[in-house]
Amino acid sequence: MSDSVLVLGTQWGDEGKGKFVDLLTAEAQLVVRFQGGHNAGHTLVIGDEMTVLHLIPSGILHEGVICAIGNGVVLSATALFAEMDKLEARGIAVSEKLVVSGACPLILPYHEALDQARERAAGSEAIGTTGRGIGPAYEDKVGRRGLRVQDLTDLDRFVEKLRSVAEHHDPTLLRHGLDPIDVDAIAEDARALSQRLVPMMADVPGLIAKHRRAGKRVLFEGAQGTLLDVDHGTYPFVTSSNTVAGAALSGSGCGPDAIDYVLGITKAYTTRVGAGPFPTELFDDVGAVLGERGNEFGATTGRQRRCGWFDAVAVRRACLINGVTGICLTKLDVMDTLEQLSICVAYECDGERLDYPPIGADMLARCTPIYETMPGWQARTAGATEHAALPSEASNYIRRLEELVDTPIHLVSTGRDRSENIVVHWPYGGPNNRPGGD
Ligand code: GDP
Ligand code: IMO
Ligand code: MG
Repeated sequence: MSDSVLVLGTQWGDEGKGKFVDLLTAEAQLVVRFQGGHNAGHTLVIGDEMTVLHLIPSGILHEGVICAIGNGVVLSATALFAEMDKLEARGIAVSEKLVVSGACPLILPYHEALDQARERAAGSEAIGTTGRGIGPAYEDKVGRRGLRVQDLTDLDRFVEKLRSVAEHHDPTLLRHGLDPIDVDAIAEDARALSQRLVPMMADVPGLIAKHRRAGKRVLFEGAQGTLLDVDHGTYPFVTSSNTVAGAALSGSGCGPDAIDYVLGITKAYTTRVGAGPFPTELFDDVGAVLGERGNEFGATTGRQRRCGWFDAVAVRRACLINGVTGICLTKLDVMDTLEQLSICVAYECDGERLDYPPIGADMLARCTPIYETMPGWQARTAGATEHAALPSEASNYIRRLEELVDTPIHLVSTGRDRSENIVVHWPYGGPNNRPGGD
């Protein structure tokens, strides 16, 4: 029986992970974020109410669940408290359910300043980051000078460490025309933040093990997507963390046996926010229709997302890297009005046909898609909850995608609301599990 599910994105993020973490949490007792930070924007829609979460795990709206922020997450305490306050104002008892690992690197004001300054200085070469300080915080972590949540338990040592961090970063800040690190101001903030954050510290690896041993269900929530992974993505146009399945283990503190099912959230077309190559990008009316009907604006920065056809080459690779058990195909309804659909089945690059993406952005930028076309369904799939209700063209599209990425589609999402889904195979075992059902 599968009892731990990992939800991750197989494209460039914003595939709809939040919606499915929320949905699956109905059957989970522990939800764990394991990488990224408040660069993520995960949207949950329940009836008339929309919730956008950046750092807090997307299971938080449920009762009787623990939400954990694992060591792999870079944590801005200010962003976390702002998000907590907003939810608590709505009557959601966040502080009762939320715990954080002491090993989370802290995002401090100079990380954000450095991120934004570097992007400004890069001009046309900019990555298009979210400007949240994610990259600089991860750099400090691997540079072994990062300040972590645990450091807030000894503020004198915190200040000592911060002084040596300042020695490292001040020359760069000054070079960008910014103020040096204000150690006293950060120390004072840290004193206030620690009052609230330190009591939230918990042993996340221990919690996962305890839940597993007691037969409880754990849900791991990925952020970003596979094509933004720092190793496997379109480097350097990526985020600064590993976003793939392997990161769930190191970023939360468990072994491979702790994951029974990997759910690859996959949009029925492709979007990307930020710079970098995007072979199937559309600059025509179809791209505009996808953007409008899909409401493709970033949940974190509000930036317009670039839109394009489904890229089976990239998703094929993502399924392989992540060991995806089943795909959840989202936003099928957004394609309802299209007359004809194209799917990128392979790339052409330097005179060769490629079935998998090349390494890095430079070569990907030289790839052109080889398309296969299919008729659109031009009928309503929005809100459908039964496979039988889908027009045959939509079923054919789904079947063709499964073949092309060599992975079964277990869930189909037909709208923003928690309830708008077709379940072919439910990721958790137990009464709702419908293996192979249609
Ligand atoms: P995440 O970052 O992967 O959690 O995804 P985002 O929340 O950033 O972006 C996904 C957007 O698509 C959100 O606005 C969702 O409400 C919306 N969404 C998710 N699934 C569907 C779907 O099946 N149909 C439509 N129309 N919208 C969806
Ligand atoms: P969710 O979890 C889409 C992108 C940024 C930029 C690149 C690097 O909502 O799917 P960063 O601030 O991480 O250094 O930016 O990564 N990016 C995302 N794109 N969805 C996200 O998260 C993203 N998080 C970061 O746009 O291109
Ligand atoms: Mg998002």
